[in-house]
Amino acid sequence: MILGICGSPRKQATEYVLKESLKMLEEKGFETEFFGLRGKTINPCRHCDYCMRKKECIVKDDMQDLYPLIIEAKGIIMATPIYNGGLSAQLKAVMDRCRALGAVNFDFMRFKVGMGISVGGDRIGGQELAMQQILTFYILTGAIPISGGAYGANMGANFWSQDTLEGVKKDDQGFKSLRKTIKRFSYFIDKFEMKE
Ligand SMILES: Cc1cc2nc3c(=O)[nH]c(=O)nc-3n(C[C@H](O)[C@H](O)[C@H](O)COP(=O)(O)O)c2cc1C
Repeated sequence: MILGICGSPRKQATEYVLKESLKMLEEKGFETEFFGLRGKTINPCRHCDYCMRKKECIVKDDMQDLYPLIIEAKGIIMATPIYNGGLSAQLKAVMDRCRALGAVNFDFMRFKVGMGISVGGDRIGGQELAMQQILTFYILTGAIPISGGAYGANMGANFWSQDTLEGVKKDDQGFKSLRKTIKRFSYFIDKFEMKE
């Protein structure tokens, strides 16, 4: 299963692009699951270290529904709107709360394939920094970070929404970066499935 986590609190550009990505993957034969943070309560990590001692997170909020999906997924797409030149606080809370999964299994992300999607209101609004934050999460948790490569998707799938849903739909370069990234993402998932 490929899990798409949407870090936007709105049903707008980020959610649209992530759902389009999951459709592309379904067309390639992958099973997908969408988990939106819109309307969910996912509190920040308290660094209480309860998880280190008890092997579970003490905070019983909507993150409890996401934990098993992250464990199950072979591939993860984290999608974020750009807030102040970086990723959303909602998505960052998810990353930090994964400390509880690392407490149970240090390598909880090992061999999962990870890609990112960023959506900024401005054409150059912090997409690459947000993407770097997502890819860094994959690197430090042992996942395989993916971009779409040179000539269109150097840093993965980055979009310019002009602050509207209509704007993101018009972003041909963004969709080019998405298609290239999905192509490499699905290729890597196939490769790693074969090795299991
Ligand atoms: C608090 C906040 C900060 C933002 N900061 C930026 C920014 O630094 N750069 C940018 O390009 N867009 C910024 N935006 C605009 C959003 O990234 C843009 O509207 C995006 O499409 C929102 O995603 P959504 O359509 O999924 O809600 C910001 C929006 C909010 C609410």
